[in-house]
Amino acid sequence: MDVSEILTGLYSEQGRQNPYPFYAALHEHGPMNAVPARAEHSTVSAVAGGYDVVDQILRDPGWYKGFPPGWEEQEILRTFRTSMMFVNPPDHTRMRAVFARTFTPRRLGALEPAIERIVAERLDHMAEVGADGHEVDFVADFAYPVPALVMAEFLGLPATDLSWYRQRVDWIDEYMDVAGKTPERLARANQAAGQLRAYYRDLIAHRRRTPGDDLISGLTEVLDAGGVDLTEDELISNLIVLFNASFVTTVYMFSNGLPLLLEHPDVTAALPGDDALARGCVEEVLRMESPVHFLARSAPAGVDLDGVPISRDGNVLLLIAAANRDPARFPDPHRFDPHRDGPPSLAFGVGLHFCLGAAVSRLEGRLALPRLFARFPRLAVTQPYTYSGSLFLRGIDKLFVTTGEAR
Ligand code: HEM
Repeated sequence: MDVSEILTGLYSEQGRQNPYPFYAALHEHGPMNAVPARAEHSTVSAVAGGYDVVDQILRDPGWYKGFPPGWEEQEILRTFRTSMMFVNPPDHTRMRAVFARTFTPRRLGALEPAIERIVAERLDHMAEVGADGHEVDFVADFAYPVPALVMAEFLGLPATDLSWYRQRVDWIDEYMDVAGKTPERLARANQAAGQLRAYYRDLIAHRRRTPGDDLISGLTEVLDAGGVDLTEDELISNLIVLFNASFVTTVYMFSNGLPLLLEHPDVTAALPGDDALARGCVEEVLRMESPVHFLARSAPAGVDLDGVPISRDGNVLLLIAAANRDPARFPDPHRFDPHRDGPPSLAFGVGLHFCLGAAVSRLEGRLALPRLFARFPRLAVTQPYTYSGSLFLRGIDKLFVTTGEAR
């Protein structure tokens, strides 16, 4: 398989279901590869799958995030363009500083009892639905509501708005995928962005009148006092992007992780009460089944990387999920080993845009997994499952299980 065939394979349904053979084939070609100019892949000039080169590019603040021309015309792109995830310094530095201040250890500590409560409620619910040997959809009943409710609590969104919200998140995520740039998907993403902007405008106005101790009230207050260098429009864009970034990613951490963990009954049996093992499992799940498979950056100047010339402004596809299975950095990369030492995975990215919410997801995983297996030691997957149609956000959307509890 040449590099073009590997990319075509990755973008196909087969690649989305199981991209790992394509990543392995890519590693055989080397850490960095030029992409032959062909229409389908014309937006990228090279593809990187080697851990070291992906890490190097992400850490280099000169490599920047490109943005499609004509963005002013599209609500979704205007939203992205005014949020930290899609901009470069100095705007990135300014916006990130405002939000980084809110992800304090104190706030995270305060989230811990909320996560414990939400997890306990969801486990009760799973037990109830699955009590008579009925199948339970682990995604609908656990993997999806846990992060959604945690983020709703963190931001101060009413939990009753979440199913309406989820549909908008999906429309935006569909547009974000490699194959997502169709007129229909763009129209739906624009619609979602417009509706979410209106939603946050109302919520902010409401919190202005009746503030609570949630994040949105807090940010609105400092914004109005002139205490932060951010406009209300930017606040709204960042809230949209923050919630989007937090949501399906963490759902997939749980749903992709469960089958992997269930293949290792010795591990699941040891998880309750073993915090170090729980941390190791979270890291290994994210390494092996990364919810985000790729990022992209553009070159600040012409450069030669691993023998591949990249011209100034050349766009490079960074396959972080391939880097996470690079045999040069992770010996026996397809083996699940929660005790692995070695470099951190790139599941949360690295460098300037390193995931702002990594600590939140890690905390959710670390608290939830031991409780899940303590409550349901005989949890079992009952039906074959498939992965979402997206490679950008790859994960299991439906996962039927039995809890194994006595009737
Ligand atoms: C397992 C769950 C998660 C995964 C795998 C994940 C993955 C990532 C990745 C790969 C990036 C880097 C993007 C880039 O370099 O272009 C990122 C950025 C980001 N993530 Fe996460 N994320 C997760 C959970 C969360 C949560 C829970 C939040 C919010 C509480 C969050 C908020 C953000 C934000 C705001 C950024 C942009 C940071 C910036 O541009 O400076 N993420 N995430």
